Amino acid sequence: MVVDITSNDLGKRAAAARALEFVESGMILGLGTGSTAAWFVKLLAEKIITEGLVVSCVPTSRITRDQAYSLKIPLTTLEKTDFIDLVVDGADEFDLDFNLIKGGGGALLQEKIVASAAKHMLVITDSSKESLCLGSFDLPVEIVKFGASSTKRFVENIVRDLGYHDVCAKYRKNADNERFVTDEGHLIIDLALKKINEVSVLQDHLIKCAGVVETGLFLGMAKTIVIGNSDGSCKLIGVSKI
Ligand code: 5RP
Repeated sequence: MVVDITSNDLGKRAAAARALEFVESGMILGLGTGSTAAWFVKLLAEKIITEGLVVSCVPTSRITRDQAYSLKIPLTTLEKTDFIDLVVDGADEFDLDFNLIKGGGGALLQEKIVASAAKHMLVITDSSKESLCLGSFDLPVEIVKFGASSTKRFVENIVRDLGYHDVCAKYRKNADNERFVTDEGHLIIDLALKKINEVSVLQDHLIKCAGVVETGLFLGMAKTIVIGNSDGSCKLIGVSKI
């Protein structure tokens, strides 16, 4: 059977394959969410079968857990393990200070919890997501359902007071045009900020807002970024060995 793989997929697969070189037997891994992370999960499953690699994995979403389970990857949870050796995850935007915007797939909360428990975060991505200044990807903010409209207004006021003008927070919608609900039962609002001048200031203000659970800003958490190219090559920045 001939499998049709797009040039976009070639870059994602190349980054995932490079990330796999960081994995050693005995490791506890965090498995990210999204189409690039899904390549990593697929290649990891192949390596477990072909090379007898022994790992135990904490998925960052229901969708990743289902994929890993279907590929017979051994799974564990953060209740059963204190730390994670390595988490491999995608990103929606990154800068060269290792700051990320994540949450395009709606899994930002579990992704951040797993990344916080990990000794090393490796991001697999492509060059289209590189940015000199974060903000071209709308920033996802996870909020609780209770009082969501009020929290949304507060968030709009916070960003306006920080100098981001005319930003209207939009509820994330699912395929049926209903409000998207995260694995943890929360909602997501997306903020079209265009250009975030001071990422830490924004994070500090948003996270203090009652009703906000987490934001998609992952600041300085990634230690390695692997950028896959459509010709199947990739470039690594940051720590090249753990
Ligand atoms: C999910 C994420 C993903 O890592 C991010 O959206 C990138 O996804 P993809 O690899 O499909 O472009 O943060 O919440």
